[in-house]
Amino acid sequence: MSEQVELIVEGKSIKLPVIEGTEKEKAIDIAKLRSETGYITYDPGFKNTGSTRSGVTFLDGELGILSYRGYPIDQLAEKSNFIEVAYLLIYGKLPTSAQLTAFEKEIAEQSEIPSNIGTILNGFPADAHPMGVIGSLLSALTAFYPESIEANPSPEALHKLMVRVIGQLPTLVATTYRKSKGLPVLAPRKDLDYCSNFYYMMFAEAGKEYKADQVIADALNKLFILHADHEQNCSTSTVRIVGSSQASLYASLAAGTAALWGPLHGGANQAVIEMLEEIKNDGGDTAKFILKAKDKNDNFRLMGFGHRVYKNFDPRAKIIKVACDQILGKLGVSDPVLTIAKGLEEVALSDQYFVDRKLYPNVDFYSGIIYRALGIPTEYFTVMFALGRLPGWIAQWKEMRDDNEPIGRPRQIYIGETERNYVPIDNR
Ligand code: SDX
Repeated sequence: MSEQVELIVEGKSIKLPVIEGTEKEKAIDIAKLRSETGYITYDPGFKNTGSTRSGVTFLDGELGILSYRGYPIDQLAEKSNFIEVAYLLIYGKLPTSAQLTAFEKEIAEQSEIPSNIGTILNGFPADAHPMGVIGSLLSALTAFYPESIEANPSPEALHKLMVRVIGQLPTLVATTYRKSKGLPVLAPRKDLDYCSNFYYMMFAEAGKEYKADQVIADALNKLFILHADHEQNCSTSTVRIVGSSQASLYASLAAGTAALWGPLHGGANQAVIEMLEEIKNDGGDTAKFILKAKDKNDNFRLMGFGHRVYKNFDPRAKIIKVACDQILGKLGVSDPVLTIAKGLEEVALSDQYFVDRKLYPNVDFYSGIIYRALGIPTEYFTVMFALGRLPGWIAQWKEMRDDNEPIGRPRQIYIGETERNYVPIDNR
């Protein structure tokens, strides 16, 4: 007999099954709660609610553990590369050498974008925020590839949709950037690895010989791996719930991009650098900003600090902090905001307000410092997050479809007006 819990509602006892995951997490399955009691549960922000059962990513917020398909994040960040991790997330196992070579080749072959995308981009203001542009372009892919709208694509058709968007997103981003700067657009190069090709398309000088920089490629691989998935975060949950209506993969990814943009989520990496710049320009007085973050009358938050799940350190932040010193050293870049960030972390971690609330640096706290050292414009930091998160969104969307999950439709507790009768307008 599987484990059960007993709930007594208005004197009536019901037994609810307990489900246990492979990492020994437990949940109460409330599928029959409403039918047997008329009650629903209430959990704003879903802080205590599991929306699905997933085999893609595991994280333990108390212990600071993160793994993709059972592989610890530090091993993957150290030894793997982004496209290999993308394959692992989507297909559930590390590829053989032949499988990885074929996957990389397919992605490179799919990296061109329809020429009319350039026409669409001509319609955007040059200073449009790239997250809004990229979200629009992801949705626009359904117009160029109508077969993507098919409610139940075959595995072969789905594989093609996935490979194509992994290949095209860097090109969409680079084309957006180059056009916004009035620079000639550079077509993807199939002789470069994924990260080097992205960096080439963004920053190479047209017509000049280009030599990929391995330090930059390694930095991008590491950052993309660390951002690749994070179980049921806000944007991934958005991708899953949009996909649960049988909307296309591209429309679901566009929705996830919109959710990621918010400063409480992926938009935090841009907000962190803007905050660190503000502290630097204000004379570097971190104590003053710590006080602001604690002041309930001030809606200032220490961006890059705190996390819904990690109540100990965010393992990604630890890896990125070390990488900061390494990458900036290799690039010969010294950035005063790195010193400010380290000082801010030190002061915050010894402050009772942050200790009591278990607020630690998260993935966004140091990542922007590396992006800046790589020459990525600040308004593109969250776009970099989306580039990294893409395979995770795809893997989670595919899992939701493979598991034939029902359309997502939460319930509510109604607190509005009741028993009102219509009054003709002349009598109001
Ligand atoms: C990401 O979910 C994921 O997995 C996300 C992510 C991923 O990979 O997908 O990890 C990526 O989104 C990382 C988070 C990036 N966001 C930020 O850095 C923005 C700043 N942090 C927060 O706003 C906040 O910490 C959240 C949004 C991340 C988490 O918010 P919660 O879990 O809803 O917690 P809360 O807002 O209820 O805060 C609890 C307390 C409150 O104080 P009290 O009411 O108890 O007095 O902590 C305080 C908050 O005011 N608090 C902060 C704070 N974060 C929380 N106070 C100051 N500065 C902060 N950053």
